[in-house]
Amino acid sequence: MNRICAALDLADPVSAAQLASKLAGHVGLFKIGLELFVAHGPAAVDAIRGYGLPIFLDLKLHDIPQTVEGAARGVARLRVQYVTVHASGGAEMIRAARRALPETKLLAVTVLTSLEAAPAEVERLARLAVDAGADGIVCAPTDVAALRKALGARPVIVVPGIRPAGSAAGDQRRIGTPRDAIRAGASILVVGRPLRDAPDPAAAADAILREIDAT
Ligand code: C5P
Repeated sequence: MNRICAALDLADPVSAAQLASKLAGHVGLFKIGLELFVAHGPAAVDAIRGYGLPIFLDLKLHDIPQTVEGAARGVARLRVQYVTVHASGGAEMIRAARRALPETKLLAVTVLTSLEAAPAEVERLARLAVDAGADGIVCAPTDVAALRKALGARPVIVVPGIRPAGSAAGDQRRIGTPRDAIRAGASILVVGRPLRDAPDPAAAADAILREIDAT
């Protein structure tokens, strides 16, 4: 299975679909984030659906349980394969999202990769989320090894902040290479700018795949 999730972080569905068409066949999933979804809503999901890959809707829901449950019911109607909530919303909020999304993989963000975080806090949030019914978690490259050990083999571990050797960190603080993240136990690598800003996004994805296969 291709473990690269391309973050289609663009402002409009046409540009996102253009990037998706270049990357289809070279990545395993497409991620739609807040910028695109807030501006274009379900139309953004529809623009990407035609490429035949699973869709990861990165909404990072975080509110009182009842509000998150209502939002999650809306997500269920979009028929996406993955959605995110913030683990810091608490166990009850995660259970509420779970109830509304029986068929969607529910991922809990531990601590944003743009922030510093104490390892014990990341692990506490990850355990809380999985115990409350999340299918997996999202964490920084620097936390993968400890979390895979703490959570065992089952939970999906999704890792953003991926930077192939030689690419710019941007605003990400806790970055890692594709190879190291997979070695440490990552299930899925979220790659945004290193693909979006590459002169040839498909070639950039292929290079990451080769790097992973070399592990
Ligand atoms: O461009 P870059 O590779 O840094 O993109 C990373 C993507 O992963 C962005 O879409 C960002 O919103 C997302 N993300 C993150 N940190 C998290 C969860 C998601 O950077 N904890």
